[in-house]
Amino acid sequence: MRAFFLLASLGFVAAENGLDGWLRYAPLPCTTQCHSKVPANIVVLNATETSPIYVAGTELQTGLKSICGSHAELIHGQCKASSSVVVGTIEQYRKTCGNLSEIPELEEDGFWLSTKGNDVQILGSNDRGALYGAFEYLSMLAQGNFSEVAYATSPSAPIRWVNQWDNLDGSIERGYGGPSIFFKNGTVVEDLTRVKQYGRLLASIRINAVVVNNVNANASLLSSENLKGLGRIADAFRPYGVKVGISLNFASPETFGGLDTYDPLNSSVIKWWSNITDQLYQNVPDMAGYLVKGDSEGQPGPEIYNRTLAQGANLFAKALQPYGGIVMFRAFVYNQLNESDWKADRAKAAVDFFKPLDGEFEENVVIQIKYGPIDFQVREPTSPLFANLLNTNTAIELEVTQEYLGQQSHLVYLPPLWKTVLDFDLRVDHKPSLVRDIVTGKRFNRKLGGSAAVVNVGTNTTWLGSYLSMSNLYAYGRLAWNPADDPEAMVQDWIQLTFGLDPTVLKTLTRMSMESWPAYLNYSGNLGIQTLTDILYTHYGPNPATQDNNGWGQWTRADHTTVGMDRTISNGTGYSGQYPEEIAAMYENIDTTPDNLCLWFHHVNWTHHLHSGKTVIQHFYDAHYSGADTAQSFFTQWESLKGKVDEERYNHVRHRLDYQTGHSIVWRDAISNFYYNMTSIPDDSKRVSHYPWRIEAEDMALDGYKTYTVSPFEAASRSVAIVTVSNNTVGTATTKVDFPSGTYDLAVNYFDLYGGQSHWQIYLNDRQIGEWIGNSEDVLSHTPSIYLDGHSAIRIKFRGVTVKKGDMLKIVGKPDGVEPAPVDYVSFLPHGVVD
Ligand code: GCU
Repeated sequence: MRAFFLLASLGFVAAENGLDGWLRYAPLPCTTQCHSKVPANIVVLNATETSPIYVAGTELQTGLKSICGSHAELIHGQCKASSSVVVGTIEQYRKTCGNLSEIPELEEDGFWLSTKGNDVQILGSNDRGALYGAFEYLSMLAQGNFSEVAYATSPSAPIRWVNQWDNLDGSIERGYGGPSIFFKNGTVVEDLTRVKQYGRLLASIRINAVVVNNVNANASLLSSENLKGLGRIADAFRPYGVKVGISLNFASPETFGGLDTYDPLNSSVIKWWSNITDQLYQNVPDMAGYLVKGDSEGQPGPEIYNRTLAQGANLFAKALQPYGGIVMFRAFVYNQLNESDWKADRAKAAVDFFKPLDGEFEENVVIQIKYGPIDFQVREPTSPLFANLLNTNTAIELEVTQEYLGQQSHLVYLPPLWKTVLDFDLRVDHKPSLVRDIVTGKRFNRKLGGSAAVVNVGTNTTWLGSYLSMSNLYAYGRLAWNPADDPEAMVQDWIQLTFGLDPTVLKTLTRMSMESWPAYLNYSGNLGIQTLTDILYTHYGPNPATQDNNGWGQWTRADHTTVGMDRTISNGTGYSGQYPEEIAAMYENIDTTPDNLCLWFHHVNWTHHLHSGKTVIQHFYDAHYSGADTAQSFFTQWESLKGKVDEERYNHVRHRLDYQTGHSIVWRDAISNFYYNMTSIPDDSKRVSHYPWRIEAEDMALDGYKTYTVSPFEAASRSVAIVTVSNNTVGTATTKVDFPSGTYDLAVNYFDLYGGQSHWQIYLNDRQIGEWIGNSEDVLSHTPSIYLDGHSAIRIKFRGVTVKKGDMLKIVGKPDGVEPAPVDYVSFLPHGVVD
């Protein structure tokens, strides 16, 4: 033990694979108060092995041992006077250990934590609360916090759920951390070890339910074999206080049950659902409930039978009522629209569909509303639906998986984005109406409410596909408990728990995290224009043209002279009128609309001056350069932590941040050039379309390579790249270097497609500077592309290369599979230059 502490205090850090997330319980250095302040006994006031309290006991034992190196005895079911941590419910405590006078009233799942010297009380209002308290205490210790505390905490709301978009075949829609931990080949997997580990992580952030299958649901989840499988999943989660819910396909009575209808008012349909619900509860007696996506994006719903969404939701609600289950009914309902109609607006759909139904939903229905009116964009205004359902339970839907926000291959810490919505005051009836008070049920006195987040962990040991993305899951749980929590404070706890207590690591990673969403916003879609990604394909790289000229309604209405959606009442779609009066008035008028939502609400000239004084187009250019510059700094900031983070995680994160430096430049250049091409308005700072340190591949002497015009054009520098002339020809591109002699970083922009792993080598004269293969589809998390486009565009850097004017630059590309060793350009970057 001594040797171990010595190593730990010298800064040697063991290899980590991420499985324990923030529950690593890393040993504290010897100097701490571990020994004097840590109890010698753990009194567990419930001896049932499947109880969260039992789990709390073993978790405390493991944690104390690992963090402090001390062995605490586990004592079940009886009190012990001194040097003990007692964990149980308040009721059990009173029965077993005597009176407790000072504890404030607790809500369901709440707990009381008191630490006095080495006497600790962890008392839940129920079993789950006791487990939460145990994790809270361990989180303090793991952060070296031995202060004496005595407080009670209760959840802001009863619904603190996560959604998994797992398909039965094992794939995960918008999942970037590998295949499903729940399903494979149409059934539930045999080995549920990862499910238990997920339960442990979720319990530690006080999540109380998981919907395990995709909202685009497959009815065969309801087969008797799968019902049994769901029972096993629920058994695995139960000791962690996590309940299971499932997504339903509205048409199941017909497609799976063999009825000739799925009309929600048809008596045989009603009977069918009630029978299925009975069977589910036989297998999962404490099932949380159902999640339903109806009449949305091709999913069946009640509309076809001229029934309302409320009639659809109530069908399930009634089937669940005998069991106390909940229906989370999604507000994500919209139709395809025609862009030539100036007044058409997808953002209006949710209020149009749901407001007239306010008050018609059963008491156990909760409308699950995405934070913005479109679809998890990099910035959206608060969904106006929150202000329009005064007699209906609501919950906010967030997305931990970074679908439109870098797919775990870009660092984006999301809580600052979520807080723009949770802390937004909708001023319903001219009274304070923060979204967080609406969804927790406080503002309109609703019994049910809370939040759900689409998480999509997979079998990758990092869970989400990247270590750093786990801060989003951690902080989601914290916000579900207390939506007033502070993003910076949350990430700091996560950093200490994940990477240890080194103050430099804490400071650096806090800064990187807090800068990450603004940076991504800057290079992917600012001023409220939405994420300018390819909405028709992978939702990953840049492709602004895909926003318009289709029925999806994520329009920018950009043309040669103007840009933005006019959502005013006076001249546009009328969307701003869906907000309460004060907010509507603010957005109706461009003078009072904040710059960051200018293009969401107004259709303006590119030369329109923002409140900042800049024109819209110049803001675009500047923001894209500034965002990409910040992304460059993440890499150098992380490199400064070498030796302070274990090598495995250091290298994993370094690789991703290095990738992000390159891909942020792909974004920057694509968006800037797209709009420069559209508007012909040059950048005041003369950066856009001027790349003084680049050598275009198409300008080199080619042998076995040919030029290739890339589509979309803005995904390649000057729109053209080179590809090998055939799938089995090795290509060579050469040119004389005309830059002054000196030391440069060489950056090669190329395309890495799905379906092949080309091999490239780069030489100066006959000196090989480097080589690499196109395997990013295996090592990065984002959805790969089969085309040369903004998703597959990628950069590799060779740092500190000595170059002489007149050297011959040579690139040799060997194609593989469908990947023709594509190259876009090479930049020779003097120190400090980004090009
Ligand atoms: C997004 C996402 C889909 C998902 C849908 C939903 O549009 O891209 O994959 O099905 O949201 O929330 O239902």
